[in-house]
Amino acid sequence: MLSSPSRLFVAKPLIEFQSIDSTNAYAIELISKSNPSEGTAIIAQYQTDGVGQYGRKWVGEEGKNLMLSVILKPVFLKPTEQFYLTIITALSIAEVLESHLDKHIRIKWPNDIYVDRKKIAGVLIQNTLKSSRIEYTVVGVGLNVNQQHFSTDLANPTSIYNEKQDTIDILQVREQLFDTLEQNYLLLKGGKRSSLRNAYLDRLFQKNVSHKYQLQNGDTVEGVITGVADQGHLQLQIGQKDHLFQLNEINYIL
Ligand code: BTN
Repeated sequence: MLSSPSRLFVAKPLIEFQSIDSTNAYAIELISKSNPSEGTAIIAQYQTDGVGQYGRKWVGEEGKNLMLSVILKPVFLKPTEQFYLTIITALSIAEVLESHLDKHIRIKWPNDIYVDRKKIAGVLIQNTLKSSRIEYTVVGVGLNVNQQHFSTDLANPTSIYNEKQDTIDILQVREQLFDTLEQNYLLLKGGKRSSLRNAYLDRLFQKNVSHKYQLQNGDTVEGVITGVADQGHLQLQIGQKDHLFQLNEINYIL
């Protein structure tokens, strides 16, 4: 199944590279130099300087994985609402993966995609603001598809291949992802915020179970994830009290 005939704008156009430094960096450069149309996507078989969260590197074997960026123009969102972009991206990846794997796919806050306790995909969203509005968003997705072996530096990686023991058509996954991202983006644009948010919360990793977390000051606490606040902060109940955490303020102990 390739592009669904009804897809309107995502990956129209699609800019393809055999090798590039980073598809996100390319997208940001494109935005700074021109006015790319909404949905423009960049994809590479290999990245020499792939960027992950927290300034980490994102490394993938050539031709085995999906590494792509989609440029969106969510002018209908306030900067304080940008977590909805995380929601729709993480949900879209989870929905596509669930169509291939016989497992419930979870989202480890804010946007790591997990199969059981293993990471199968990551998201890097970068926004450009203009007059306190989001002008452009670059949605970067790294999804492990057919790679079998990973660097031992990575804590708990997996891929579709490793979960199924079977090679899968990357083009099919790519097109499904473009279709699903467009559908969820249009739902967001159409005001379906609470159902998208609930679908995200339904997939939240370690929700409602007691676990240990490490705080920024090095302390370890035991708490229960109860949800995610409107602006994307993680809600963790420690003892009887609810606390809100931003990215970087809390680490999962897996
Ligand atoms: C993470 O650290 O989990 C986020 C990884 C995001 C990687 C993708 S690969 C395509 C796009 N281009 C980049 O340089 N990074 C993102």
